[in-house]
Amino acid sequence: MMKGLNYVQDTATRQETRVDGGDISVIQDSGRRLLYQYSGIPNEEMDDHIETMRTMALKVCPYPCIKMYRFMDISIATLPIYPEILDRTKNGDKFLDLGCCLGQEIRQLVFDGTPSKNTYGSDLYGGYFPVGYKLFKDQDRLQTTFIAADIFDNTSKLTELEGKINIIYTGAFFHLFGLEEQKKIAARVVQLLAPRPGSMVCGQQSGNEKPGEYGRKGDTSGRKSFRHNPQSWKELWDHVGEITGSKWDVEADLDSPEFALQTPEGQKQTEKGPQGLRFVVKRL
Ligand SMILES: C[S@@+](CC[C@H](N)C(=O)[O-])C[C@H]1O[C@@H](n2cnc3c(N)ncnc32)[C@H](O)[C@@H]1O
Repeated sequence: MMKGLNYVQDTATRQETRVDGGDISVIQDSGRRLLYQYSGIPNEEMDDHIETMRTMALKVCPYPCIKMYRFMDISIATLPIYPEILDRTKNGDKFLDLGCCLGQEIRQLVFDGTPSKNTYGSDLYGGYFPVGYKLFKDQDRLQTTFIAADIFDNTSKLTELEGKINIIYTGAFFHLFGLEEQKKIAARVVQLLAPRPGSMVCGQQSGNEKPGEYGRKGDTSGRKSFRHNPQSWKELWDHVGEITGSKWDVEADLDSPEFALQTPEGQKQTEKGPQGLRFVVKRL
């Protein structure tokens, strides 16, 4: 288990209330705090503002994470590596949130002192970016570069960042895909990162103590996504290291139930229920 993991609220309660995916009471204090302090949204307007933005975001693409108000979870700040991320980005390191959706993690970094010009956000759907500006009321001051790109498209605008990024954060992203696609994403991550020791990718996603392909609650497409335990996640990075000629130190744990998504009805995954995988993968 990674040291110093510190959850900002009672995760058991939250897991319960999340299941229907539409209860505004699940929003964490961290999101409300950011909207109040960074965006100046008064408390009495908070719920209406969040609901309006959620409706707009769902029209771009109705990801379950938006239904569940995940854009109000500031996950990055709960990672033990967060102080290092802050320190490095304040001193010039370039940060990319891969699959950033509305960009809440970037706003937290900027609120905590990272110059926004050192930050990048990328997502398949560029339609989320204007919603993010409206949510956080910062279009006039945020200098983040947002890039609409499919991570599997090696000719996208992301190519301009190849070899230039020092830190990639990715939340609830890899787990959308099967294992072979995840290997391609990881190889792309290696390309985007500066080819030197200390470059890193960190984040969280659904995991399982028994690695394998799992269905997703409410997804009738039949698509499976691969969920890792720390060992299988390490093996993925060993493999990607081999094919890219690089070496990676992998730190991961499965102790963050609040990042786990629900499985289809009746499909029990583990004795402990769905689990979240947190990770820091650093280039050696
Ligand atoms: C489950 S959401 C997580 C959003 C955000 N990281 C969070 O934690 O709230 C996954 C995000 O990945 C993006 N995405 C899905 N497929 C993608 C692809 N092929 N390339 C880039 N982004 C993609 C989606 O548009 C969505 O915003």
